[in-house]
Amino acid sequence: MPCCLRMLVLDFLFLVVHPLFGSSHTSPHEFIRQPPKGIIFTRHGGSASDPQQVHISLAGGQHMRISWITEDKKAPSTVEYGKSPGKYDNTITGVHTSYSYFFYTSGKIHHVRIGPLEPGTMYYYRCGGSGPEFSFRTPPARFPIEFAVVGDLGQTEWTSSTLAHVGGADYDVFLLPGDLSYADSQQPLWDSFGRLVEPLSSARPWMVTEGNHEIEMFPIIYPHGFSSYNARWVMPYEESGSPSNLYYSFDVTGVHVVMLGSYADFHERSEQYQWLRNDLAKVDRGRMPWVVALLHAPWYNTNEAHQGEGEEMRKALEELLYDGRVDIVFAGHVHAYERFTRIYNNKEDHCGPMYITIGDGGNREGLAMRFKEPASPLSLYQEPSFGHGRLKMVNGTHAHWSWHRNKDTDSYMADEIWIESLSSTNSCLVGGPPSRSLPSSTSSSSKDEF
Ligand SMILES: *[C@@H]1O[C@H](CO)[C@@H](O)[C@H](O)[C@H]1NC(C)=O
Ligand SMILES: [Fe+2]
Repeated sequence: MPCCLRMLVLDFLFLVVHPLFGSSHTSPHEFIRQPPKGIIFTRHGGSASDPQQVHISLAGGQHMRISWITEDKKAPSTVEYGKSPGKYDNTITGVHTSYSYFFYTSGKIHHVRIGPLEPGTMYYYRCGGSGPEFSFRTPPARFPIEFAVVGDLGQTEWTSSTLAHVGGADYDVFLLPGDLSYADSQQPLWDSFGRLVEPLSSARPWMVTEGNHEIEMFPIIYPHGFSSYNARWVMPYEESGSPSNLYYSFDVTGVHVVMLGSYADFHERSEQYQWLRNDLAKVDRGRMPWVVALLHAPWYNTNEAHQGEGEEMRKALEELLYDGRVDIVFAGHVHAYERFTRIYNNKEDHCGPMYITIGDGGNREGLAMRFKEPASPLSLYQEPSFGHGRLKMVNGTHAHWSWHRNKDTDSYMADEIWIESLSSTNSCLVGGPPSRSLPSSTSSSSKDEF
């Protein structure tokens, strides 16, 4: 991955050199961050065969992938599930894996793909034939659908408030544009993170893409990185024709979501580039009036932190997203909230995606406090506070976006905007007039899909 070498080296320096200096290490060029709150280490209360770190993810068509870990290497990779509590009509056996990282060896990591499932339906399930019952709800067959969007989550007391606010109001699917656990090579922190998020991640699909904190590359010994991330957070890349777990896409309730890899090769001859071009070309905007993309290092960013880090990727892929009429691009990495207008090639463009940075989930590094002055006319809102976003597709043409700042123990909606889909904007259509490609919002999905 020559493209990312510079970032990998930076990450390596961060991992290896940064801890030696501790958090007081600042150079004149570094932004000052609000004091972060302490790390929460979440322990496992059950037995060795009890499932822990349960999370679910959409797995193509009407399927869900159930993932969990047991300390017991003999625990079976089976999921029992059904539509009533305690009554499991189906049992499916899946696969398992594990990985080592220096002196650490993971537990048994189970992945079981279940389905077909009905949309908008509660399912009750048990992992490995014993232990507690969990439940989840599948996404709806029709609009509205609501996404919770949180980047750079970490596992601090701020993370805990953000998760409480996310879980405090209903939603269908969780989207995370990179930087999950901030384990930074300390593998038990991946387990702790899995346990911290389990109450939410076992109940709604969590769809994630990788950030720099997932790389965990170590020269010669782990030259490709992502050992932990790829073993624990398997996403539907095979289901979406991608050769790598680092980028993939999925359809849910009339929304096509593209998860890009900021730390996988993205140049014109790369597999990611080719895959993305094919993926966007296949989107039927009649069935999927919305297209949303997520990636880690922002392409547009007026914060002083991480300036220019997404630029190489922007130059490589921006045209594909523009031609694909992607409605919104979410990024993380910068620990603040920022919302832009619709942009293409550094200019306002009413057919370009709206860019949103939402890297403020609550990680231990704290906030990116300083935005450049004077503010760019492309940037419509900037704020360095922890929080989360909510994106509700009301129908095929209108969506409501809101950003909720963590305010002590409460959540406060500080920014909101209505967004119209590009598939309903006549002058932006690529494939002909809307009457030909856009059915009424009530018929956008058949009854048994989600
Ligand atoms: C879509 O939702 C918006 C916002 O609620 C509403 O104004 C519009 O009429 C709806 N469109 C259709 C086709 O229902
Ligand atoms: Fe990051």
